[in-house]
Amino acid sequence: MSQQLRAGIIGGGWPGQQHAKGYAAAGGFKVAAIADLIPSRREKFLSEYPGAKQFADAAELLADGEIDVVSVCLPNYLHAATTIAALKAGKHVMCEKPPAMNVKEAKQIEKAAAKANKIVMYSVQRRFGGPEQAAKQAIEKGYAGDAYHARGTWMRTRGIPIGTGWFIDKSRAGGGALIDIGVHLLDLAWFLLGQPRPIGAYGVTHQRFAHTLEENKKIDVDDAAFAMIRFEGGKSLELAASWAINQSPQQQGTICRVYGEKAAIEVYTPEGAVLYRNFDAKGDAKPHPLKPPKLVSHAALMRHFRECILGKATPIIGAKEGVQLMQMIEAIYKSSESGKSVEIKNN
Ligand SMILES: NC(=O)c1ccc[n+]([C@@H]2O[C@H](COP(=O)([O-])OP(=O)(O)OC[C@H]3O[C@@H](n4cnc5c(N)ncnc54)[C@H](O)[C@@H]3O)[C@@H](O)[C@H]2O)c1
Repeated sequence: MSQQLRAGIIGGGWPGQQHAKGYAAAGGFKVAAIADLIPSRREKFLSEYPGAKQFADAAELLADGEIDVVSVCLPNYLHAATTIAALKAGKHVMCEKPPAMNVKEAKQIEKAAAKANKIVMYSVQRRFGGPEQAAKQAIEKGYAGDAYHARGTWMRTRGIPIGTGWFIDKSRAGGGALIDIGVHLLDLAWFLLGQPRPIGAYGVTHQRFAHTLEENKKIDVDDAAFAMIRFEGGKSLELAASWAINQSPQQQGTICRVYGEKAAIEVYTPEGAVLYRNFDAKGDAKPHPLKPPKLVSHAALMRHFRECILGKATPIIGAKEGVQLMQMIEAIYKSSESGKSVEIKNN
């Protein structure tokens, strides 16, 4: 394999464009090809990466022996099949979130990656954001003490996505707000807790805002989800996600809080991540803004991907973690359906 890895982007929507920028900024990659069924998306892409090859269907790009790595930026129902086909074709894969439609598919990806001996990573780029990395570093240095509980929320007031039509169709998306945006904050909060093994979940989902969609649009997925997850060793995580909900406009946005025995971390503030420690008897504490690293977001994600491919690192969000993420999501959906808490069994 040449030192410069040739990357192919499969799916030219917003995430595909971010992956391409990430490869270009990370160094050591060449953005070499795009596949998308929509010609205008390919044309836009080629205007930014002249010389890249273009293909209509994903399978055509996968057949190109010059491509070393691919980004799977397709609708959720195509993640597993395309990722597995890419692994069989000898490519390393960066697959968009959610890892798959369900646990079964995520396990199939894990198996295929092991068989092909190639890297699979999932594009949960929040892990690689500036405040998020700063928070992780502070926790790893022990500033928070034992970080035992986290709260992650992404509560949009109005923002049901449609994309090219599949986001609100369960058979193609696997779910709604939970699997789409809940997965980001679930992943981040879980990461900051140190990725303990999930053992159970309790969740409730809603679908209340179908009336805000155009008349011809049929939605059969959740537009809000609320959950509590338990982990081996006693840690816990609260998750809230909405595409649409009535709330104070100031609530729009994301929250990620980590509660530790010595300190708390608020990841999203106007000052970036802030650590609060030395709590006095009244509950006052001194804020310590945490310095973010220089390389962030998709560039940092792709840098890590490259280090994993070169054998210098192990994926922090690889095939195994993808299975665990899907176990948590699936357990929340099952709990919402049954009204009971759901046990998550060992892999
Ligand atoms: N990480 C993030 O922040 C983030 C943000 C948005 C979307 N996503 C994820 O990215 C994925 C794509 O989302 P999107 O918003 O771009 O959706 P989209 O509907 O806008 O785009 C999907 C694209 O896939 C193309 N496509 C479908 N089948 C294809 C095939 N067989 N071969 C080639 N191209 C094909 C379509 O032509 C379309 O351009 C989803 O899994 C979504 O969850 C992630």
